[in-house]
Amino acid sequence: MTPSIVILTGAGISVESGIRTFRAADGLWEDHRIEDVATPEAFVRDPWLVHRFYNQRRQQLFSEAVKPNAAHYALAKLEQARPGEVLVITQNIDNLHERAGSRNLIHMHGELLNLRCAASEVVYRTEQDSMPEDLCDCCGSGGNLRPDIVWFGEMPMQMEACYQALDSCELFLSIGTSGNVYPAAGFVEVANAAGARTVEINLEPSRIHTAFDEHVHAGAGEAVPQFVEQILRSV
Ligand code: APR
Repeated sequence: MTPSIVILTGAGISVESGIRTFRAADGLWEDHRIEDVATPEAFVRDPWLVHRFYNQRRQQLFSEAVKPNAAHYALAKLEQARPGEVLVITQNIDNLHERAGSRNLIHMHGELLNLRCAASEVVYRTEQDSMPEDLCDCCGSGGNLRPDIVWFGEMPMQMEACYQALDSCELFLSIGTSGNVYPAAGFVEVANAAGARTVEINLEPSRIHTAFDEHVHAGAGEAVPQFVEQILRSV
């Protein structure tokens, strides 16, 4: 079944779970400049720094303080109530949607719990720290494993599936994303062209807020459960 409800999520949905957003007021991501940790050039220049940075982000997922919040649970509830009708596309690399129970889920910017061999493209699941000299099972050589994260200048994952769903959706909901990074920031226009109702839930108007039919400017933990209850009551 093609999903009729497509939900795009960004860093804002995980704030109330204890994970900081990318674009803090100081322009830094967890005290690093984005170009020092989230570009292919940074990985060539200083693989130790990049591995260490993502190791810290990965370990954060196992801290007791970091857990899904009411917004993640509400989206999982929506999917359970409407099997086959809901697709969540997240820009987040954390695992909070799946921990809350979402199953029809695309991680368009990759996942912290995956490493990828840059030579063979084989993806490895891991909860451990990684280091530049780690050997991969596929080629047996060091230096090939990298975080399976989409860095600036790289192509997001599963774009064909995203556009296929957007092209025929009836409701497009964007939650907790600033609208700075494409192609995700362009999804609302694809949904508009498909005739969908488009709704933004974000703490503040995003950079692309004028593209949406409706806006809820509030924290996701409160606004998303309310919105989901409205949808569930509507049919
Ligand atoms: N509820 C809802 N929205 C919130 C909340 C909250 N509790 N707290 C913050 N926000 C909003 C902020 O106002 C901001 O507009 O979430 C948005 C987060 O924006 P960004 O930090 O830019 O995150 P995002 O849009 O997901 O970034 C996109 O950029 O760095 C890359 O690849 C990275 O996936 C990331 C992409």
